[in-house]
Amino acid sequence: MSKAGGIRIGVVGLGTVGQGVWKHLRARQPELELHMGGKFVLARAAVRHLDKKRSVRIPAKALTDDPMSIACDPEIDILCELMGGTREALAVTKAALKAGKTVVTANKALLCEHGEELFALARQNGAHIYFEASVAGGIPIIKALREGLVVNHFPLIYGILNGTCNYILTRMEREGQSFEAILEDARKLGYVEADESLDLDGWDAAHKAVIIAYLAHGKWIPLKKMPVEGIRDVTLEDIQWAQRLGFKIKLLALILRDFKNGHVFASVQPALVPGDMVLGNVDGVFNAISVTGDIVGESVYIGRGAGQDATASAVISDIIDAGTTISHGIRPEEPLNCADLKLAKPEDVYRSFYVRLSVKDRPGVLAEVAGILAEEGISIESVLQRPNGGQGLANLVLTTHVCTEAAMAAAVARLKRHKSLNRKPFLLRIADFAQRLG
Ligand code: NDP
Ligand code: HSE
Repeated sequence: MSKAGGIRIGVVGLGTVGQGVWKHLRARQPELELHMGGKFVLARAAVRHLDKKRSVRIPAKALTDDPMSIACDPEIDILCELMGGTREALAVTKAALKAGKTVVTANKALLCEHGEELFALARQNGAHIYFEASVAGGIPIIKALREGLVVNHFPLIYGILNGTCNYILTRMEREGQSFEAILEDARKLGYVEADESLDLDGWDAAHKAVIIAYLAHGKWIPLKKMPVEGIRDVTLEDIQWAQRLGFKIKLLALILRDFKNGHVFASVQPALVPGDMVLGNVDGVFNAISVTGDIVGESVYIGRGAGQDATASAVISDIIDAGTTISHGIRPEEPLNCADLKLAKPEDVYRSFYVRLSVKDRPGVLAEVAGILAEEGISIESVLQRPNGGQGLANLVLTTHVCTEAAMAAAVARLKRHKSLNRKPFLLRIADFAQRLG
């Protein structure tokens, strides 16, 4: 039965995403109400600067600069948290959940850092959190995992979850321009987060990977236990070597689960993706996620991972779900809870590697490098060498067969100390799907 007077929505944050949500909810209200099975009211909105010019018209009496007043307003049913950040957003979200409201959020950083606490608070108060827009913008990956693929277990999920990095890597590859030059363009286009490290050092993708891992495996993986690297150290030369070997370089989030031994692994690292794999051809600001379910097999989702409209599309799908749930008194299903699931150790994780070394160009160096790898049980698959600027140095690129992360870490520690190495080794993982847990 629908709520008398309609479901009342409060939007906290009317920036890029919030304005898109307001605009599209208004423009499609009659058909969205049919989907929801009841009326809704865009009741209130909170912003930091009341006088800022906006692309949507909000009645002055509906606008406030006090988000807490919306979180605590007994008339509001759904609080849509689109303010970003983790401090005030946490306070507002907690207040709304304590008041039993449904929260819709796009805030991946908030969920990654405080998800465990927030979901527990929601449970205690009979409240609910919806978060489709927090991962991969417009791609409905949360619904896919929660609903469409519910019968499956997920041994392997990997994806391109940061549009900014994918844009930079794509243009470096196509145009042969440096990281810095393309980054400047990405800034001008407004792609890069205000805190650039979130994008460039892999943290934004890691926040999203943590959320996916929670949905798929019921465990909040602490960020500090995850290998997270960004794309700053990927050179044009790496991109060219990768092309010669038939690969593209992508910033890849990986979530592996070993159901036999009961552990899970998540990482975000730049990786070599085969050029003939679907994700190898997902370019520019697009995101993509491959999900392997034990029953369904592999399915791949591609779309816009950010931007006003794509993100608003995801937020609105949550609002409509939330409204239907409130109107009809349905309880959304509880996410899995596998808090005791163990994290895989480096000796449990099997990968193949791309290793770039800058070495002194003298007799025996290649044999010494190969010897160190062999002693750590690592088998070389291919070797490429190019002189480096006539300074008696050479760039050596090796690819390996599958070995453990632990074996490679031991080899790298020895290579770093080797007198013929000019710089520390640079590694990329190869996404050839020999990678697995054991
Ligand atoms: P913006 O910075 O564009 O907007 C933030 C909004 O929140 C602004 O309207 C701002 O007010 C308001 N705000 C911030 N702090 C306060 C406060 N203390 N009190 C009241 N209002 C406040 O962010 P986005 O729209 O880009 O992002 C919103 C969320 O969506 C973030 O969590 C982000 O990670 C997530 N997201 C964003 C995507 C994107 O493409 N932009 C994609 C996917 C997720 P004012 O306008 O007055 O300054
Ligand atoms: N900075 C993010 C990206 C925005 O580039 O993908 C979407 O979360």
